[in-house]
Amino acid sequence: MVIQKSPGEIELMAHSGAILAEVHEALEQAVRPGVTTADLDELAAAEIAARGAKPSFLGYRGYPATLCASVGPQIVHAVPSRRVRLREGDVVSLDCGVVYEGYHSDSACTYVVGGSDHADERTARLVEATYEALWAGIAALRPGQRLGDVSYAIESVARRYGCGVVAEHDGYYVGGHGIGRQMHEDPMVLGRGRPGRGMRLRPGLVFAIEPMFCLGNPAFRLDADGWTLSTVDGSVAAHWEHTVAVTEHGPRVLTARTGEQVNRLAG
Ligand code: MF3
Ligand code: CO
Repeated sequence: MVIQKSPGEIELMAHSGAILAEVHEALEQAVRPGVTTADLDELAAAEIAARGAKPSFLGYRGYPATLCASVGPQIVHAVPSRRVRLREGDVVSLDCGVVYEGYHSDSACTYVVGGSDHADERTARLVEATYEALWAGIAALRPGQRLGDVSYAIESVARRYGCGVVAEHDGYYVGGHGIGRQMHEDPMVLGRGRPGRGMRLRPGLVFAIEPMFCLGNPAFRLDADGWTLSTVDGSVAAHWEHTVAVTEHGPRVLTARTGEQVNRLAG
């Protein structure tokens, strides 16, 4: 069931998203060689608590942490660990969710540890392509457009850069989603689709848009820990995510970092 949000609900989600944006800003400062993903998890938990909110992921279907920290060929949902110490040049996706006054926000960023100078050219471009696809998907979130237009916008960026789009493998799907009182609501938003197909977008719908690209084959598998999704071929993956409301004027990015939306979208 697709749940439409009232203007008041969207303001609460914007508050949730603003908290999450600050959490990501703190995380970005902390990503450096030598830090463990468990350190980052503790930081995220503290930053969320300090703002009077709660983590969305902790306890979700038994998930044991605040953050997902996926390194290298790990695509999403890797559980932070004391044993995972980041090294210069690692590609790490940090995915976090916040619930505030009962409303969720969900967003993810991918970093090259030590800065993109420490990645080879293809890897740096993968991270950029995935970020560009995030914004291409967001730009398609306008009343009158259809869900397939959003998926197609994401897929088109992957094509242009020659990246693999992680979306479906062996009948298992991963992608974006509706979000609100639940972290995961209908509908699913895949990273590939057909323009002009799917449900029509209207003001009051809120989506988490989350392209996942990789350098090689986009086939994925669930690791033995029961959480982590990794590429089958071991190729590096990147993942970016924002929570976005459809308004009559176009997309409103509820998890945007300071200045980010203004810089990426005209208007
Ligand atoms: N952002 C993630 C997603 O939408 C949420 C993590 S789910 C959890 O898939 F189980 F890891 F918490
Ligand atoms: Co999500």
